Amino acid sequence: MSNVAQADIYTAPEDFVAKAHIDAAGYASMYEASVADPAAYWAEQAQRVDWIKPFTKVKDASFELGNVSIKWFEDGTLNVAANCVDRHLEIRGDQTAIIWEPDSPDTPAKHITYRVLHENVCRMANVLKAQGVTKGDRVVLYLPMIPEAAYAMLACARLGAIHSIVFAGFSPDALADRINGCGAKVVITSDEAPRGGRKTALKSNTDQALNHCDDHVKCLVVKHTGGQTTWVAGRDIDLNAEMANAGTDCPAVEVGAEDPLFILYTSGSTGKPKGVVHTSGGYLVYAAMTHLYTFDYHDGDVFWCTADVGWVTGHSYIIYGPLANGATTVMFEGVPTYPDAGRFWEVCAKHKVNQFYTAPTAIRALMGKGAEWVEKHDLSSLRLLGSVGEPINPEAWNWYNEHVGKGRCPIVDTFWQTETGGHLITPLPGAIPQKPGSATKPFFGVTPVILDPNTAEVQSETKAEGVLCIKDSWPGQMRTLWGDHERFEEAYFTQYPGYYFTGDGCRRDDDGYYWITGRVDDVINVSGHRMGTAEVESALVAHARVAEAAVVGYPHDIKGQGIYAYVTLMNDTQPSEELRKELVKWVRSEIGPIASPDLIQWAPGLPKTRSGKIMRRILRKIAENDYAALGDTSTLADPSVVDDLIENRMNRA
Ligand code: PRX
Repeated sequence: MSNVAQADIYTAPEDFVAKAHIDAAGYASMYEASVADPAAYWAEQAQRVDWIKPFTKVKDASFELGNVSIKWFEDGTLNVAANCVDRHLEIRGDQTAIIWEPDSPDTPAKHITYRVLHENVCRMANVLKAQGVTKGDRVVLYLPMIPEAAYAMLACARLGAIHSIVFAGFSPDALADRINGCGAKVVITSDEAPRGGRKTALKSNTDQALNHCDDHVKCLVVKHTGGQTTWVAGRDIDLNAEMANAGTDCPAVEVGAEDPLFILYTSGSTGKPKGVVHTSGGYLVYAAMTHLYTFDYHDGDVFWCTADVGWVTGHSYIIYGPLANGATTVMFEGVPTYPDAGRFWEVCAKHKVNQFYTAPTAIRALMGKGAEWVEKHDLSSLRLLGSVGEPINPEAWNWYNEHVGKGRCPIVDTFWQTETGGHLITPLPGAIPQKPGSATKPFFGVTPVILDPNTAEVQSETKAEGVLCIKDSWPGQMRTLWGDHERFEEAYFTQYPGYYFTGDGCRRDDDGYYWITGRVDDVINVSGHRMGTAEVESALVAHARVAEAAVVGYPHDIKGQGIYAYVTLMNDTQPSEELRKELVKWVRSEIGPIASPDLIQWAPGLPKTRSGKIMRRILRKIAENDYAALGDTSTLADPSVVDDLIENRMNRA
């Protein structure tokens, strides 16, 4: 049976629908119930989690400016790690919880059962405890995609400590900012992180970062590659040795539903990255539920989300959602193109993956290598495909559907954010027919509204376009920004009072389907990674030769968006190719490789209004190579700078 296509609407094959958790009628009635009486609905859904003390209050949420407060299940208590591990021991202790697939296909994969996971989580929790980590303490993880990353997350959860993962691609400076930002007591890292056959020296990066942190911060080190590291006595601790000596039992600490589970830093349109806080009860309910329904996960399935645990997708759909559901989850250390462009498909075949979840940027990159890399592998185990992180263009959707899904796997295009904890808008595969490029319909309990960007008026017609906001809280929603509730209100609730503002543009078609059109703020999406243009600008101006910088996104065939920087040099500095390379290197060292500018244009002047505000609209247009429609430039202090920028534009595609 194959997906049934009708004028670009794809319905899942009959046999898929017959087995699915939710069908069309089920979605309609459950969605209606979820928004008609959220408290009753979520009280029932929260039973999928084991509570130590049951909650009596379900929801207490206000989006009112000056008084934003979000609480779910607030008087209940639980332990997240016990929910993800211990409660499965009795019936599925010997089932594989995590399949670890290493960077090199020549290194054997590991199958970690729930029993072994329990043992290792307890060992690591005992090591953390011995370092004085207790409930509410912060622990930063800066790790490759290795089982120890999962053990460390769950060990923190077991103790009620709060983890904050820093993606291994971030620089020492970025790591130091995050360690200091959350006041971490401990950093967990490894000697090196292998990726695509290359190694990143994580321990040496951590050493550099710790030079800028409090002397009391301890460093637990996983020996992974065996690479050489320097050792600071009294600060550095050999985690493997400590774990080997630690006890295999560690009581799970009872925490309140609203106690923080993790902090995850993400880029915003202004200033430094923001420490998004997720709490324990609501987040877990939401991650588990979206994992089950969006991916139509059934007992015994093998689920693979290709993200890194350094991003929210890895938190919710490699670790917390799948493990709460007693799933088998694949954790992949490598990259899609190493050792060749068939790696994803080889791994799918090897581990008989049933649900496969990746980002459009990876699909586009692999599409460019040719379908022959897919055809080599037996993908008959696949039942469902997923996409996340950025809008998926119809060409990539069609390629994914035809070559990977062989026309028989529904594709779930899941729209969500670090802030939302789990999917907000997504097809439910047995219930909602898909249109390539549309995230389709809201998940249960999610109330999207489209507002006019200028008047903030709600667009009540079915067919509408504007900015995407959410009217009411859902359990997976972030609760605050670490240590800065004011900034939380300012960033998400000020522009459109009374609503949670996603920062995305959106249109709704005649069928009520949602189409995300991309960020409307100064955040760009590079290979599915969020980057604040302000962050890249402040990295650039920190260089001694740079006087001023303005950064915008531009369309990029593989990455979705590329980073385009306009740089004004100091008066005494001559532009050169060498300096261009140096600036790229500089940004990599200030933030990390993911922030590398793709194009740098020397700008003798930037287009500014008479009050000195940079007119980014003009810079975006030039970067997009769409300079014919620049609009009104008469309000510029010096309109002639625009001609120079157009003449020397870097993107002539
Ligand atoms: O612009 C949207 C885009 O990614 C942003 C969130 O980025 P981040 O917090 O890093 O989380 C990424 C993974 C959840 C959103 O504001 N985005 C995410 N998913 C989609 C998307 N844009 C279009 N379609 C999607 N499916």
